[in-house]
Amino acid sequence: MQARSDLSRRQGRKIAFVPTMGFLHEGHLSLMKAGHKRADEVIVSIFVNPTQFGPGEDLEAYPRDFDRDCRLCEKEGVNIIFAPDAKELYPNGFQTYMTLEKLPHHLCGISRPSHFRGVATVVSKLFNIVKPHIAIFGEKDFQQLQVIRRMVKDMNFDVEIVGAPIVRETDGLAMSSRNTYLSPEQRVSALSLCKSLQKAKEMTASGVTDATKIIDATIKLIRNYPETAIDYVAVCDPETLDDMKIIDKPAVMALAVKVGKTRLIDNMMLAERV
Ligand code: PAF
Repeated sequence: MQARSDLSRRQGRKIAFVPTMGFLHEGHLSLMKAGHKRADEVIVSIFVNPTQFGPGEDLEAYPRDFDRDCRLCEKEGVNIIFAPDAKELYPNGFQTYMTLEKLPHHLCGISRPSHFRGVATVVSKLFNIVKPHIAIFGEKDFQQLQVIRRMVKDMNFDVEIVGAPIVRETDGLAMSSRNTYLSPEQRVSALSLCKSLQKAKEMTASGVTDATKIIDATIKLIRNYPETAIDYVAVCDPETLDDMKIIDKPAVMALAVKVGKTRLIDNMMLAERV
């Protein structure tokens, strides 16, 4: 992979990189399209990264369909699929990890304490292997995007990070490989995430600035749907992810909700400018 990227770089070709864990959906395809717009070639990695799953999480059950993924990539004109084996990326004796001091101690990092160490480690390894000029990440994983942006800045990675908007089903559910776990009834309950975000946005637009009021309304709406268990609902600063009490500057609402056994996340900017 490194030799192939060196060749592209010598030929003056700009490389866009889309890291994924496979089981591709429209959200991933939108990242590939964004890559084609900005670069001469698009490289997609497909790797279910074991280090970002905690004990008891869904590493084994995580949906996989490599042949279908290859067909979708081909349709999108992807130039290279990089699909390493876990033993290649984490050989015996592996002991070097990338950790961030603050960002992982918010939102998803509270219930998934080793998750962002795994993400930051694998993404930095992939950057060193794929050697892209730009890398594209979905905004659905909002905290992940901020972690990667911070890591790239702090570690002087020579990669431009591009965030791409969330792709939603027609009824508003944010696309996720994990949506496949949902039963038809749970699929209805999963709408509580986008509906409550929409309500929070409307409240902000109508002049409510008290974050607690907005969070309370969000929690109430989600709890009305069966089989939902809230992990967190937060209104925070989009860069530091620190909680905000009053919405007097740009703010994002982020939430994680278990629907049945499936943990879903979503987010929305409540105020871009205040
Ligand atoms: O967002 C994902 O699919 C993963 O966290 C990533 C960035 C591919 C790292 O394994």
